[in-house]
Amino acid sequence: MKHLIDPTDLSKQEIDQIIALAEDIIAHRERYQGSMAHKKLATLFYEPSTRTRLSFTAAMMELGGQVLGFSTPQSSSAAKGESVQDTVRVVGCFADIIAMRHPIEGAPLVASEVSRVPIINAGDGSHSHPTQTLTDLLTIKRELGHIDDITIGFCGDLRFGRTVHSLIKALSRYHGIKVVLIAPDELRLPDYIKQDVCEKMGVEYRETDSLDDAIPELDVLYMTRVQKERFLDEDEFDRVKDSFVLDARRMALAKEKMAVLHPLPRVNEILTEVDDDPRAAYFRQVENGKLVRMALIISLMEWKNDPAHKMPEHEPPIYNASLHCSNTKCICNNENAEPRFRLAENGITRCWYCDSKVK
Ligand code: NCD
Repeated sequence: MKHLIDPTDLSKQEIDQIIALAEDIIAHRERYQGSMAHKKLATLFYEPSTRTRLSFTAAMMELGGQVLGFSTPQSSSAAKGESVQDTVRVVGCFADIIAMRHPIEGAPLVASEVSRVPIINAGDGSHSHPTQTLTDLLTIKRELGHIDDITIGFCGDLRFGRTVHSLIKALSRYHGIKVVLIAPDELRLPDYIKQDVCEKMGVEYRETDSLDDAIPELDVLYMTRVQKERFLDEDEFDRVKDSFVLDARRMALAKEKMAVLHPLPRVNEILTEVDDDPRAAYFRQVENGKLVRMALIISLMEWKNDPAHKMPEHEPPIYNASLHCSNTKCICNNENAEPRFRLAENGITRCWYCDSKVK
């Protein structure tokens, strides 16, 4: 069975297949209307969401299916102390496919290990957000006509922004990708993405703290919100929150065909004066999110019993009682998930669930 926990769970061919299906849905909406009739999607959201949850719901409704679930953990048995594994075992008796968002990193992975239906990670902590990635890839394809051979700038909170981490992972499979990382020191991209993804896959990247310098060379500018809810220190948040703001003056420095993406919600990092610029693609991106989730649901349901679409093989995990994951937001420090590790690039040991470096 195929789950989508991390963008790399999909091969490049599978990603391209999902994007092509989304494009076919756009061209022939009516053909897909009843394709999920009598099927149910459960949306288990342990963390706030507008777009992601509603776009999953709208996607399933457009396919003729039904949706059940919860939008806050307070209204589920999590409030009584039920583990994600148990919740997923139960919900698998009611639904054919599950989309889960969780503030704890690795929660959807642990859920997938006991689930009898496909699990889709709709965002886990600061870690991963693979369906936003599919949305972003479809948007780049529709805005620029291609995904290969682009220079993409990521601006803002590259440290806690899970959409950034996931999109870089997926783009590393494409050809001729150049990445410009535009962030203040406090919000730089985590090392594991630089080492295990960019360096390993040969993605050219550079870091800068000047949006003005970077913007003229970009084909895509991916703006992000500073993730206030993931900061441990309020003062640190106040220092960086207004770091990088996109306005009309900066848009004037950009290429005529550059596309501006943002996973939304925005706070103040893109001024509303940019919204009417034809290069502002972030509201079109929202619609693409629904379309690509339609394509994903159809694909995972089709692939459920197809041996050609299995989860990728990984090196076996390392079990070692003397190793410890220090990420307080990792599932292994929150629920009964046995600590596991993997040997990553440069001989570094990382947590199996959240990718944190283990000392
Ligand atoms: C993002 C998320 O939840 O990670 N939003 C989304 O899914 N569209 C980005 C964010 O919250 O800033």
